[in-house]
Amino acid sequence: MSLFDKLQATADRLSEAGPGAVPFDTHIDRILSPTEVLIDGRRTLMCGSNNYLGLSFHPEVIAAGQAALAAEGAGTTGSRAANGTYAAHRQLEQQFAQLYGMRHAQIFTTGYQANLGIISGLCGPDDAVIVDMESHASIYDGARLSGASVFAFRHNAPDDLRRKLARQPDPRRCLVVIEGLYSISGDVAPVAAFADVCREAGAFLMVDEAHAFGAYGTNGLGRSEAEGALDRVDFIVGTFSKTLAGTGGYCVSNHDALPLLHFASRPYVFTASASPASVASVAAAIRVMGSEPRLRDRLWNNIRRARAGFIAAGFEIGETESPIVPVFLGSASRAVTFWRALLEQGVYVNLMLPPATRPDACLLRTSYSAAHSAEDVDRAVAAFAEVGRALAIVPTPA
Ligand SMILES: Cc1ncc(COP(=O)(O)O)c(C=O)c1O
Repeated sequence: MSLFDKLQATADRLSEAGPGAVPFDTHIDRILSPTEVLIDGRRTLMCGSNNYLGLSFHPEVIAAGQAALAAEGAGTTGSRAANGTYAAHRQLEQQFAQLYGMRHAQIFTTGYQANLGIISGLCGPDDAVIVDMESHASIYDGARLSGASVFAFRHNAPDDLRRKLARQPDPRRCLVVIEGLYSISGDVAPVAAFADVCREAGAFLMVDEAHAFGAYGTNGLGRSEAEGALDRVDFIVGTFSKTLAGTGGYCVSNHDALPLLHFASRPYVFTASASPASVASVAAAIRVMGSEPRLRDRLWNNIRRARAGFIAAGFEIGETESPIVPVFLGSASRAVTFWRALLEQGVYVNLMLPPATRPDACLLRTSYSAAHSAEDVDRAVAAFAEVGRALAIVPTPA
């Protein structure tokens, strides 16, 4: 027995994957643009990022980050609790509060920490955190860190949540957590229906809009806005790392308790605050999102083009129209072989295996950006079709 026994399962899994590129550890030599990278010296089309509006190289976003880097330095070298809050941290919080029309906002150093910080800051051992079964790891980890009892309800099933809440001794001590758009299956939550169930029971609702932000709602605020449910959601959490092309996370709420988490949330208090460049580039990305609505139109054109192409080629894909289009392949060995063959063709997508999927429902997660051209989307679909035919997963046209 040794300390390292726990890692044996990981070592076994890596050796099972066989020779070739190592899944989950692809080395990118250089980033060429929001949609193209250099891998092993080959120009590779990126269809596995979350750069939904393609803002990572937007000139205003880059200029804002560069100016802040020069003016305020490379990092804050500590937490806000210890080293102080920069004016830009406060301004970005005001920008988020204004954007959502909510009284309070708090920013975090990563989206992961936003979930950890909000859930563990709000809930304690006498409370219950009730989460959608398919929740992101940061939601589960935040629930565990809180010491609260943790329950899961069936994915996207408000009726199952209702049953779970009915078993709670005091639903007012329950925080229900859902995501607006699920990052692997690409399906969206019925946010308004969940909000109704929570209201009925007296429970609190938190929606993680990490992937939905930028793509849905009149102002791009996510599924809560798209369903007209913003005023019935207690806490909205999101990340800077997808549409906003930065690093960090946020929470907005009308509850006056939120500002207390600046003092009571360990994943906020005991970590360094977001760097000046990150804060400034995100502030600029929010402005660009508001001033360039055509980016969202381009994203949706690409989504529809990709879906139509996959369906015509005979692939089984997710049912929901979203920036994430999962291509279902079945077994892990089939998914790994497919993923490697795509990389050989110069297309990078995300490989999804258990525990992120069921063992018989492994998939390749493809995602789209406003920065993709129609030709990029066609190229990705054509590469899929070629590999799919070679592996006899889709039919060869007569
Ligand atoms: C639903 C969800 N929440 C939170 C996070 C964490 O965000 P970040 O990567 O910015 O820490 C992710 C990231 O993948 C996510 O998918």
